[in-house]
Amino acid sequence: VRSFKTEATTPPRIPEFAFAFDIDGVLVRSSDPLPRAHQALSYLQSNQIPFIFLTNGGGKHESERVADLSAKLDIPLSTSMFVQSHTPFADMNEYKDKTVMVVGGDEDRCRVVAEKYGFKTVVTPGDILAAYPDVWPFSQQLLPYYKNFTRALPAPIDPSSPSTSLKIDAVFVYNDPRDWGLDTQIIKDVLLSHAGILGTLSSKNGDASLPNKGYQQDGQPPLYFSNPDLLWAAKYHLPRLGQGGFREALEGVWAAITGGPDAGVKLQKIVMGKPHRPTYEFAEKRLITHRRELFKHFESDGRLGQLKRVYMVGDNPESDILGGNSYESPHGTDWASVLVQTGVYVEGTEPAHKPKQIVGDVLDAVEWAVGQEG
Ligand code: G3P
Ligand code: MG
Repeated sequence: VRSFKTEATTPPRIPEFAFAFDIDGVLVRSSDPLPRAHQALSYLQSNQIPFIFLTNGGGKHESERVADLSAKLDIPLSTSMFVQSHTPFADMNEYKDKTVMVVGGDEDRCRVVAEKYGFKTVVTPGDILAAYPDVWPFSQQLLPYYKNFTRALPAPIDPSSPSTSLKIDAVFVYNDPRDWGLDTQIIKDVLLSHAGILGTLSSKNGDASLPNKGYQQDGQPPLYFSNPDLLWAAKYHLPRLGQGGFREALEGVWAAITGGPDAGVKLQKIVMGKPHRPTYEFAEKRLITHRRELFKHFESDGRLGQLKRVYMVGDNPESDILGGNSYESPHGTDWASVLVQTGVYVEGTEPAHKPKQIVGDVLDAVEWAVGQEG
């Protein structure tokens, strides 16, 4: 790799380009920082070239994950630079005073994140298992684990009294489920219920005279997924199943029970995260705000020009490259995708989505992009 200056220099002009970095497979492999990640980011900070993190990962509050990443990479970072899978859920104010179910993550960390986002009544599948162990016979051995962090339900599950029984108003999968069996069972119970009231079954299910054959046509709550990744780059040398793997498993159970798409019954859900447009739009807004903050002293004298290009550096063609390639910025910013060989993508194979450039690692990506800017 051509070595290039990393000492601090004031930029001859304000850079009109910036970076969006994927995390897993680009900067870290699970808890291990990748070898040249620190050098890449410290070069950008020394040269005041803005960057943000755009990850399909999650499971902790942004403040906690930024602190973890900053320590791991030995780089000063702020939450304004950090967009993770469930960050956009923080803006869903219409559900903050309702009862939401949060799925996934270690223990009840995602519940804590949701409460920090302002959601007032948060239920987890673990809470339901702890209160009604029979709801899922195959996780009894995990009850001691669940009892460490589950909470009493805000209402009982009592189908004989639907008006006072526990009713779920929205389901959010925040992070990769740890107990696919329990979480699949509970989500299925909610989606087949009457109006999200746990313990009930909708009388509309299977009614061919209704759209979607009556499934999810009876006031059941929306189902949000935060991350589409079927595979991701963890510490193991081969890619691991991600939240998209859980969703595909749930879709399989849904199809087996309802007949699924072959019978005209689609599982109605909202899947967010890379490569989907709302996530890139959200990230671009964050990047523009972060860049404005970085150069606020130049903005006052009108020297802060338009952000012209964002280099999306990622390891997964299905999320980072497809997303970077297909995103059309409302600000006219050009997004250029750069694929690294330190994660999901295997060197020498034809990526499913063609990046602007394929490079070895994140430092190569920074060098190549800076070279493009002249
Ligand atoms: O759960 C994390 C995984 O889906 C990938 O995260 O950082 O590569 O977008 P990232
Ligand atoms: Mg990745």
